[in-house]
Amino acid sequence: MRLDIGKYLVTGGAGFLGSHLCDRLVEGGHDVLCVDNFFTGGKANIAHLLGHPRFELMRHDVTFPLYVEVDRIFNLACPASPVHYQHDPVQTTKTSVHGAINMLGLAKRLRARILQASTSEVYGDPEIHPQVESYWGRVNPIGPRSCYDEGKRCAETLFFDYWRQHRLEIKVMRIFNTYGPRMHPNDGRVVSNFIVQALRGEPITIYGDGSQTRSFCYVDDLIDGMVRLMDSPADFIGPVNIGNPNEITMIELAERIVGQVGGPSTIVHKPLPADDPRQRQPDIAVAREQLAWAPKVGLEDGLRETIAYFRHQLAA
Ligand SMILES: NC(=O)c1ccc[n+]([C@@H]2O[C@H](COP(=O)([O-])OP(=O)(O)OC[C@H]3O[C@@H](n4cnc5c(N)ncnc54)[C@H](O)[C@@H]3O)[C@@H](O)[C@H]2O)c1
Repeated sequence: MRLDIGKYLVTGGAGFLGSHLCDRLVEGGHDVLCVDNFFTGGKANIAHLLGHPRFELMRHDVTFPLYVEVDRIFNLACPASPVHYQHDPVQTTKTSVHGAINMLGLAKRLRARILQASTSEVYGDPEIHPQVESYWGRVNPIGPRSCYDEGKRCAETLFFDYWRQHRLEIKVMRIFNTYGPRMHPNDGRVVSNFIVQALRGEPITIYGDGSQTRSFCYVDDLIDGMVRLMDSPADFIGPVNIGNPNEITMIELAERIVGQVGGPSTIVHKPLPADDPRQRQPDIAVAREQLAWAPKVGLEDGLRETIAYFRHQLAA
């Protein structure tokens, strides 16, 4: 799929998803301005793009206003894993809320279309399964995860108010668990955790009894959905779930990863962290219908690429 506009701003462009998005946009012939404060992202993720004539990197924190000239904005800046977003929760809320205000202000000045990387965490610990976009969620406003969940919910509110009040062209994407090369090795996310532990021959840590389920989307599929959403007709604004609906228990995931890595890893159980949802699965009917999008990469293929990436990282 091709995007039809010239210069793109990607905030959080040196992170896991942002760097893959920068790749896709540059490959598609677009100029990309990547903005990042390098809190969780790193130059290594975009090193191959530095020096490319269509790629520009700018160190900037989105909690401060930004004055640049672009045609479209992807707003991804925000730490995404609990370990990182709970490290400085006030900064996390600021990044989501002030970051959204600053990027929406920029979009308003430029009359630029803007996409928000929102999250399945806006559904909290859901009472309905799978989650549809019309579900309002069940989120704890005062817990340790609230800086992220409520920050992202407030950002969605801001996007819709800029749309209602200023007729800004917005797109809101609710991203479900995504995995792939360039995930942070120590961020506590389950796929990277299990792979790194298996590669090191360490016991695999499962929180709770391991019967809780998740669904995992491979990064290439996710970026395809993101690009399709940005390029969709102006009257389709979302929110839209993008994720893989195939559910798997944590025990099954651990076994799959140990099987693919090979070696002797065993499984150890630890207590569940606060507000950890029991189940999370996207209903992707809206994405199928409005964006003609569905995930294509199976878990086995996605894990193979991801394991190869971490094997290389650990050897370096
Ligand atoms: N990966 C997932 O499974 C997932 C799921 C749901 C939502 N998301 C959302 O997608 C986006 C990207 O997630 P990711 O997995 O690539 O995470 P990531 O942590 O790898 O990337 C986030 C990037 O934002 C940058 N950043 C953080 N605060 C910033 C600030 N104040 N100013 C400028 N840059 C800042 C970080 O340095 C990093 O490069 C996030 O908004 C996240 O909430 C991701």
